[in-house]
Amino acid sequence: MSESFKLGLIGAGIGSAHATGAKKVPGIEVLAVADLNPARGKRLVDEFGVKRAYTDYKEMLKTERLDGVAVGVPNYLHKQIVIDVLNAGVNVLCEKPMAMNARECEEMIAAAKKNKKHLIIGFMHRHRDDSRALKQIITAGGLGEIYHADAYALRRRGIPGLGGWFTTKKMSGGGGLIDIGVHILDLTLYEMGFPEPVSVSGATYMKFGHKKDYNFVSMWGGLVKRGRFDVDDFVTALVRFKNGATLNLEVSWAANIEKEGMYSVFMGDKGGATLENGVPLKITTEHFGKIVDIIPQFAKEDTWATQEKNFMEVCTGKAKPVAPAHQGLVVQKIIDAIYLSSKKGKEVKIS
Ligand SMILES: NC(=O)c1ccc[n+]([C@@H]2O[C@H](COP(=O)([O-])OP(=O)(O)OC[C@H]3O[C@@H](n4cnc5c(N)ncnc54)[C@H](O)[C@@H]3O)[C@@H](O)[C@H]2O)c1
Repeated sequence: MSESFKLGLIGAGIGSAHATGAKKVPGIEVLAVADLNPARGKRLVDEFGVKRAYTDYKEMLKTERLDGVAVGVPNYLHKQIVIDVLNAGVNVLCEKPMAMNARECEEMIAAAKKNKKHLIIGFMHRHRDDSRALKQIITAGGLGEIYHADAYALRRRGIPGLGGWFTTKKMSGGGGLIDIGVHILDLTLYEMGFPEPVSVSGATYMKFGHKKDYNFVSMWGGLVKRGRFDVDDFVTALVRFKNGATLNLEVSWAANIEKEGMYSVFMGDKGGATLENGVPLKITTEHFGKIVDIIPQFAKEDTWATQEKNFMEVCTGKAKPVAPAHQGLVVQKIIDAIYLSSKKGKEVKIS
């Protein structure tokens, strides 16, 4: 590429991870950041090598000639900010969850189509080296037909920003399910080849976050005193797919459990797999007439750099999106259906 790919950031929280990843990719220049909070924007300039900081993202879009923007703001702002960036003629990498609900996702996809721009979703776990290795194994038929998967995103006491936007339903759209459940649900669907969901039975719980004596060791985003907690801290759900497969999901921000982690267990008729963040990938199968475990070897790669590289390559016509928006919409439809099923106390259909 003769000219660099010029990246902008909106939101300087998770924006720092985008900046760090992008700076490792030859050909990407992290030109500017916009954050309402000037101190947070300045930190990205001072510590992460971003060139310029703005407090108004519209001003940044007007002033800078950007090829792509990574949007990482509270969930309730995703839809409007993403649409504004697309309408300014700039491609978007939108943080997860794609939006508050499926209706918003559809509006965002329509804006991308109208402006003939790319919209991809920050499902960064798809870009992990172990996730990519498993995808290759599954695509080559290594597990055979995957008929069931268990997906877990489990924290013992891991509510983020308690009292702030993360735990306020009108700003977040939900609790642990929409925050971390979205990651493992998406990753599991991706590995399964995105079968079409037809129905969902789910139950959501609030057992810890609303209590004054919530006990924790550390907290992403910090505690917001006298704030709200009106979202789920544990969710369980069963998703059925058109091809007959099923997916069992368990998500906790807080629960009295021993094993924490972000992992999926896949059951195929030729082999199974356990994919766990930070733990070697394991294939569970039969070989030499014996029941065996296989630990595949592969090159270690930086997850965030891989994600930002894919964004650049999609926008420059060199690659297909690893996490396209239409799949973000499917994930969101399942999340909407889990919340609806819990409210109704019965299984609901997905259209
Ligand atoms: N991929 C991941 O693993 C991951 C991790 C953390 C957060 N996230 C996602 O990133 C998003 C942001 O989360 P966070 O943890 O960075 O939150 P945060 O609250 O730490 O940061 C959000 C930032 O957005 C800024 N902001 C708010 N409104 C704005 C506006 N109108 N214009 C410009 N800036 C504005 C705030 O000032 C704040 O600095 C969320 O959607 C979250 O789900 C993803």
